[in-house]
Amino acid sequence: MKIALIGLGSVGRGVAEMITKKDLGLTITGLADSKSGAMDPKGLDIPTLLTHKKKNGHCGDPDISTLDIIKKADYDALVEVTPTNALSGEPAIGYIKAALARKKHVVTSNKGPIALANKELRTMAQENGVALRYEATVAGAIPIMHTLEHGLAGNDILALYGVLNGTCNYILTRMADEGLTYEQALMEAREMGYAEADPTYDVKGIDASIKLVILANNIWGHDVRLTDVDCTGIDLLTPDALRLADDEGCTIRLIAEAIPRKNILRVSPRIIEKSHPLVVDGTLNALTLETDMAKEITLIGRGAGSVETASAIIGDLLYIKDRYDGSA
Ligand SMILES: NC(=O)c1ccc[n+]([C@@H]2O[C@H](COP(=O)([O-])OP(=O)(O)OC[C@H]3O[C@@H](n4cnc5c(N)ncnc54)[C@H](OP(=O)(O)O)[C@@H]3O)[C@@H](O)[C@H]2O)c1
Repeated sequence: MKIALIGLGSVGRGVAEMITKKDLGLTITGLADSKSGAMDPKGLDIPTLLTHKKKNGHCGDPDISTLDIIKKADYDALVEVTPTNALSGEPAIGYIKAALARKKHVVTSNKGPIALANKELRTMAQENGVALRYEATVAGAIPIMHTLEHGLAGNDILALYGVLNGTCNYILTRMADEGLTYEQALMEAREMGYAEADPTYDVKGIDASIKLVILANNIWGHDVRLTDVDCTGIDLLTPDALRLADDEGCTIRLIAEAIPRKNILRVSPRIIEKSHPLVVDGTLNALTLETDMAKEITLIGRGAGSVETASAIIGDLLYIKDRYDGSA
């Protein structure tokens, strides 16, 4: 199956390297970053282009734009891994629409388009007879969408609870373990490369809320939005609060929860027993699904990382390859 890869940062590089390294029946025929593009219907020389990008800051011809690749390259599936814009979803929404209009499958790790325009994009994919998949948008390497779609097929999902932001989880773990203040733990997270220069989205619970919206819409077919989430971040937590929780054999985690029967869609710091399965350490993510037949299922894994996120994207691509083998 031929792939056009849009975005060659942390995730895009992971996808390109894994496709090149592993014999998966996937060939990259189009590639773009913010400044350039490259295409070859027979398959691009990925190692050379990656080296070129490292040296020169761009991967291909500056005269070839991202839209040139999406509209003209010979490919079956678009992999869209450009930065998240949680306010407009652009330019990724435009990229995805352009690919769907050409009847190309789309796989993305970008939360913006899926949180803001999921219904419209899914309808467009359906009308064009192609797939739109976004496993990597929630909890990185954890195969939550596949689990819901296949492993738990036929179950009613009654509720979900999740630790969906690795940066917050790292900060809370360090505050609890070492008695650090929020500011000290945040500084450490920055030094370790776990927090952005501007950590607002993470620490205010916005990133976890976006993921909760994606999950709720996916599971229950709702059309909820970011503004529907009752959201509190971790930025006002004190070491005292963690100490008090510790006295009771508990700790604090930023929990995203969706409980439709109680009309709850919430992200907030919660006091939680240390032995609870959602109490994971460091940058890990965890998700508990409450279901009618399987009862509780908890998935734990890495919520971010170049190759970890590539795992989710490649899973989606191979699902499409198996399912729509006519286009492979
Ligand atoms: N990193 C993770 O672990 C992770 C995990 C799950 C989901 N995600 C999501 O995956 C997406 C990619 O993340 P990332 O960490 O790889 O980001 P990144 O390192 O910032 O890379 C973004 C890439 O997109 C390119 N780009 C930016 N604007 C573009 C445009 N308008 N048209 C075409 N290409 C454009 C950049 O080009 P240049 O190289 O020219 O700057 C860069 O190659 C984001 O939406 C992120 O939220 C990331």
